[in-house]
Amino acid sequence: MSTPRVLRQSLQRLAQHARCYSKTTTSSSAPLRTHQKQQPRLPTAWSTTQISARRSLSTSSALQHGHVDPPKPGEELYVTFIDKDNHTHKLAVSAGDNLLDIAQAHDLEMEGACGGSCACSTCHVIVQDQDMYDRMPEPDDDENDMLDLAFGLTETSRLGCQVHMTKELDGLVVKLPSMTRNLQASDFKS
Ligand code: FES
Repeated sequence: MSTPRVLRQSLQRLAQHARCYSKTTTSSSAPLRTHQKQQPRLPTAWSTTQISARRSLSTSSALQHGHVDPPKPGEELYVTFIDKDNHTHKLAVSAGDNLLDIAQAHDLEMEGACGGSCACSTCHVIVQDQDMYDRMPEPDDDENDMLDLAFGLTETSRLGCQVHMTKELDGLVVKLPSMTRNLQASDFKS
């Protein structure tokens, strides 16, 4: 008659083992989840923002401004700059080049602090001939706003970065003013 008791005890032991096994399994998986949580997670949105921020910081290339291609033979247009020391620089240029890029490509003293985005007045030039000035497309509101900030503003003032050479402007003469606002390219870097 002891058999059922032995059997019952065996069954109880088995049940105990089963509970222990269940606990062990649960407790062994918990550290795994904890471990997974402690994995260095990549905050996707933040990383993307950071990467794009780094990209935007590296997009300012010195070659973007002040680079002009030499004109093709027979297609030269001429523009003359009168620098702050009253020296003249007659240059052969291509149609489409703007005065800021031309000046910088030839090491003339024109700051172009905003990089040609019409947000400063450091590329201020004074067109020497009223007739030539009248051939230019009229300055837009942004250019007029910036011109209002220019030192030595005249009736024929323009922003060099906004004036693009065309056949109509062949022979243009512009003077670089003796002073510009004290802005530098570094003022526009974030
Ligand atoms: S370079 Fe700034 S407005 Fe021309």
